[in-house]
Amino acid sequence: MGKQLLLENINTPGIDTMAGYRAQGGYSSLQKALKMKPEEIVEEVKKSGLRGRGGAGFPTGMKWSFIAKPEGVPRHLVCNADESEPGTFKDRFLMQHKPHILIEGMIISSFALGCNTSYIYIRGELLYVYHILEKAIAEAYEAGFLGKNIMGSGFDLDLYVQPGGGAYICGEETALIESLEGKRGNPRIKPPFPAVAGVWGRPTVVNNVETISATVPIINMGGDEYAKIGVGKSTGTKLISACGHINKPGVYEIEMGVPVEEFIYSEQYCGGIRNGKKLKAVVAGGSSVPILPADLILKTAKGEPRLMTYESLSDGGFQTGTMLGSGGFIVMDETTSVVKNLWNFTRFYHHESCGQCSPCREGTGWMEKVLHRIVEGHGKQTDVDLLWDIQSKIDGKTICPLGDAASWPVASAIRHFRAEFEEYIKNPQNIKDEKHYYNLRNQKAPVA
Ligand SMILES: Cc1cc2nc3c(=O)[nH]c(=O)nc-3n(C[C@H](O)[C@H](O)[C@H](O)COP(=O)(O)O)c2cc1C
Repeated sequence: MGKQLLLENINTPGIDTMAGYRAQGGYSSLQKALKMKPEEIVEEVKKSGLRGRGGAGFPTGMKWSFIAKPEGVPRHLVCNADESEPGTFKDRFLMQHKPHILIEGMIISSFALGCNTSYIYIRGELLYVYHILEKAIAEAYEAGFLGKNIMGSGFDLDLYVQPGGGAYICGEETALIESLEGKRGNPRIKPPFPAVAGVWGRPTVVNNVETISATVPIINMGGDEYAKIGVGKSTGTKLISACGHINKPGVYEIEMGVPVEEFIYSEQYCGGIRNGKKLKAVVAGGSSVPILPADLILKTAKGEPRLMTYESLSDGGFQTGTMLGSGGFIVMDETTSVVKNLWNFTRFYHHESCGQCSPCREGTGWMEKVLHRIVEGHGKQTDVDLLWDIQSKIDGKTICPLGDAASWPVASAIRHFRAEFEEYIKNPQNIKDEKHYYNLRNQKAPVA
């Protein structure tokens, strides 16, 4: 097991309380940070190479330096705790078991950005975690870590937790901002970016739970030390929520750069495929990212071992690669039907489309309809090209990336498993025997 910077002591009884967290050295990074200048903290985060853990992997220090600083206008930090991507459950785990690491990270980050009012926007269904955070925030006020003149530094911060309405779209940062303002969560057209006009038109930074929590070890150990962990531009540790047909599903903190094969098969992580079955495919970064067949997830098209890093997972682009995304690692064994799984994902995206952009609103519904008729045994051979055509008319043509998130799983499933679709349509009577679909893969993309 590599370094545990976020999950360290997670099993220690009482770590979810102020006393328990402080007994393990909690809030010492805050004490250190408050003695630094805000711009020095931004510099440490830049040096650390930390990249946003919400999915896009944008460098955090750079994002922070973009925040506008107009005279007399308040700025805000918003923590994105919406976490609704199928397969991703790392933020919930961290907040549930170690809420104070997020609170400490929020205070450090708010200080660095010059924010006096900050928010944690949490997925509505996670009501129990909302209560855990409320309790932790109350403890932080009582300890003098929140409120006026924090630890005699002259810095004031109020922190609020806002539960969302339970919509996946509210994880998209501008939809989140709309929802936080009390409106329907429709994504905004960018520019202006939140760094210029975010919550109530004020400069705003939106960061993921894990990103903000990572500032605690970064300040503690220093940006340079943090950057020594990992490979290339993928520095530090990453929380991975592993699920599907593995022996040990759960949330793991890995040092960036662990080989995918080791992550799936070693005892310290997923412990191999359940019931001794063969690996068929992996969705490596939450339901939105391209699915890869076993051979391509274990090795790149160049034959190099695939590593758990932003760069290695995306090696080969979308033809032969995928993305680290939000770290939702979904493993499928040889009995899995890629077609049925895709129908399930597509139902989700259709349900969650906000309806603002017609390609996404209509296209996700059409894709669901076509996949449903295939799954029900009424598919036509032309349906595979039809699906390809629909997804290509959504990808990149919407205000927010939910459209892309809906089209990439369809494109990649057809790209790598076209023969399985064709077989499904030809012999629907065989559908019950899931094993029948193992290895029916076609590497060729249907269109150039
Ligand atoms: C449909 C959709 C859902 C998203 N859901 C989340 C989410 O639940 N949590 C999250 O941190 N980012 C989510 N994102 C990404 C955010 O828009 C944003 O990039 C992220 O919060 C930035 O934080 P980071 O820089 O720390 O990664 C989502 C994006 C889209 C398009």
